Amino acid sequence: MKAKIINNLKEIDSGKVKEEILEGLTSQSRYISPKYFYNAGGSQLFEAITELEEYYLTRTEKAILSGIGNSLEIDFTDLNIVELGSGDPSKIRLLLQQIPSEKLSTIHYYPVDISHTAMENSMDQLTEEFPEIEVTGIVADFMQQFKSLPKINNRLFCFLGSTIGNFQPKELVTFMRNLGSEMEAGDHLLLGLDMVKDSRVIHRAYNDSQQVTAAFNKNILNVVNGIVDTSFDATDFEHLAFYNEKKQRVEMHLKAVRDRKIRINGNQATMDIKKGDTIHTENSYKFSRRDIETIGMHAGLKPDSVFTDEKKWFSLVLYSKSD
Ligand SMILES: C[S@@+](CC[C@H](N)C(=O)[O-])C[C@H]1O[C@@H](n2cnc3c(N)ncnc32)[C@H](O)[C@@H]1O
Repeated sequence: MKAKIINNLKEIDSGKVKEEILEGLTSQSRYISPKYFYNAGGSQLFEAITELEEYYLTRTEKAILSGIGNSLEIDFTDLNIVELGSGDPSKIRLLLQQIPSEKLSTIHYYPVDISHTAMENSMDQLTEEFPEIEVTGIVADFMQQFKSLPKINNRLFCFLGSTIGNFQPKELVTFMRNLGSEMEAGDHLLLGLDMVKDSRVIHRAYNDSQQVTAAFNKNILNVVNGIVDTSFDATDFEHLAFYNEKKQRVEMHLKAVRDRKIRINGNQATMDIKKGDTIHTENSYKFSRRDIETIGMHAGLKPDSVFTDEKKWFSLVLYSKSD
């Protein structure tokens, strides 16, 4: 197996990153972008979430993925698989296992993720399991660094886990437009979407009994402390997650359990957090059948096939780019 990692994050201006975080923390409705969840500990906690009984998303998507190899109307020969927000290799493995062995050696896999540690771990596992595949890991921010994606033909973009649900509606449109202009005729997109369902099922998925999601949510403060030198103590906050039916999204927040003065940039400034104040950390939008067409339209893509489970809880949509 030929394997290498290209790190493009170095090209992102660290001053701008700090500015962006501080802007969120000091705005009237405080927020932190969910992309800051994924330091080494955050990626590990996310993996633990995917194994929880309450977190139906991964289990359901994996079951769909395990059975679609023969139904995907894609020529796997010389296929370039570009997986956005790849995380751990547990999903791509299921797809690779369904590719006939004579074609497997012609595949080039490009995982793209913001987490360097997750990328290294994933590459180590894949090297062992699929020695015949060429892998090029790209550490990059897919919101800002579309130029980092490999410019080649015959690409299958995979965007799984319903990570697209973490985008704000405007971000989703921008992301799909960028993806659409990146894609050439003959390229495909396999998109994972978590569908609207009984709100109790959704609520449980983000409020697990072992509080792994709570630990994942709170860990974002440790990441922020590392980047902007703030003095957040995660134990001063509790995890708050609920389904906002009107907006069709789960909202995750951190809610202060006591008053605190937070130092920013060492000692250069301070910020008062009052008991009950919240910091919005993530949205996870849920989608309807109609959204499948609309999302594709932003990128000039049409849905060729929609794969789903018996309860229609999750959809994997194969889109293609026509001339
Ligand atoms: C919700 S997890 C999904 C992981 C995996 N695809 C799955 O389905 O289980 C989101 C993944 O996207 C990555 N990620 C989040 N924001 C990113 C960004 N702006 N650019 C690149 N990767 C990002 C995270 O590191 C994480 O691995």
